[in-house]
Amino acid sequence: MDKLRLTGGRRLEGEVAVSGAKNAALPIMCAALLTEAPLSLANIPRLMDIATMAKLLGQMGVRIERTADGKMSLHAERITEPTAAYDLVKTMRASVLVLGPLLARCGRAKVSLPGGCAIGLRPVDQHVKGLQAMGAAISIDHGYMHAEAKRLRGTRIVMDLVTVTGTENLMMAAALAEGTTLLENAAREPEVVDLANCLAAMGARIEGAGTDVIRIEGVASLAGASHRVMPDRIETGTYLAAAAAAGGRVRLSGAAPETLDATLEKLREAGATIRKGRDTVEIEMAARPTAVSVRTAPYPAFATDMQAQFMALATVATGTALITETIFENRFMHALELQRLGADISIQGNTAVVKGVERLQGATVMATDLRASAGLVIAGLVAEGQTVIERIYHLDRGYEALETKLRALGAKVERVR
Ligand code: EPU
Repeated sequence: MDKLRLTGGRRLEGEVAVSGAKNAALPIMCAALLTEAPLSLANIPRLMDIATMAKLLGQMGVRIERTADGKMSLHAERITEPTAAYDLVKTMRASVLVLGPLLARCGRAKVSLPGGCAIGLRPVDQHVKGLQAMGAAISIDHGYMHAEAKRLRGTRIVMDLVTVTGTENLMMAAALAEGTTLLENAAREPEVVDLANCLAAMGARIEGAGTDVIRIEGVASLAGASHRVMPDRIETGTYLAAAAAAGGRVRLSGAAPETLDATLEKLREAGATIRKGRDTVEIEMAARPTAVSVRTAPYPAFATDMQAQFMALATVATGTALITETIFENRFMHALELQRLGADISIQGNTAVVKGVERLQGATVMATDLRASAGLVIAGLVAEGQTVIERIYHLDRGYEALETKLRALGAKVERVR
């Protein structure tokens, strides 16, 4: 298994290009299931999760072509098998995003239950409840969800909690339903808006994406379209947090600064100077960061996907930061690994109390999930001496060309095979 070896202590200087957003690309690829015509996508990142989704869709008969420059064409002319098997679903929870589109297009779907994952329980009850409200019969049998509906019917759905992929699944299903669907307490994440924009380009009638009430007027069929996937706001935030921790001056190009308000505000609070352009963000950090407390919540509040990176930042800040996680119940696995690097962290319920130390010391640590790994990379960039991060396949799921980009900023990092 590959490892990442970092030698810490260098300031970061330079520019990197932001990749397309993983969490927008995944649902948008599933939108291809809604039409017989080809869907042409641009700005698709080269990531393990994207390859997994391509494989999953391929098993259903979707023809997929990738070209070198981030373009991908998906053609679901015929869906041969509306099934998502456990083998792939267990490796990537986002696989559940095929449920709504398959049901809407084929009238039936068989999708494996995702099971537990490293960051928490993550049930899919809201996806199921919403589709049932639209008239689907869903049973659970031998670990699979079996869903059936001649044609889904639009209805009013009030979600019990804010769920990103749940909102996306129901929005895709509703696009081909009969009549109007109102999704209330919907997720407002920019990735939901990106999916809505792609669906609109395909002929869907959607209003309110980006607010907590989305109105979808179902249509009989959708057409092909071209769509460019939005920039990855979490990748952008990760490089910014890295620069805030290590010091220096970093410019991110091809970014979407308007999706980063909560992160940028916290970086300013930590002492960084931030300059925003139309599609660039620049950070300058001259001194040791000041401790900043964060509390994760659905967008537009501070993202859970940035929590580990800010915990890493807090480990070397002046003062004490409270990091509160309200979305996932088990997303502090990185705290123990950060302690191995000399961080002073104590966990009290869903809050980590992080007392900044002057220096971390390099050691061998283990990546446990994607964003936890990103936090460890940031810690490795500031730790004294060498840090080796094991199990970096987690990073390959969500960060395109991580070492290349970090090296472009002057970091000393190498992959050990
Ligand atoms: N939840 C339920 N029932 C449901 C759905 C969700 O109880 O039916 C709970 C979850 O257990 C969790 C909370 O609701 O406690 C929010 O989960 P959500 O459904 O919003 O998460 P998700 O859609 O599975 C997406 C991202 C995650 C990101 C979360 C939160 C994708 C493919 N994944 O997951 O990204 O952390 O939203 O913003 O969009 C990552 O990229 O590293 C990642 C984990």
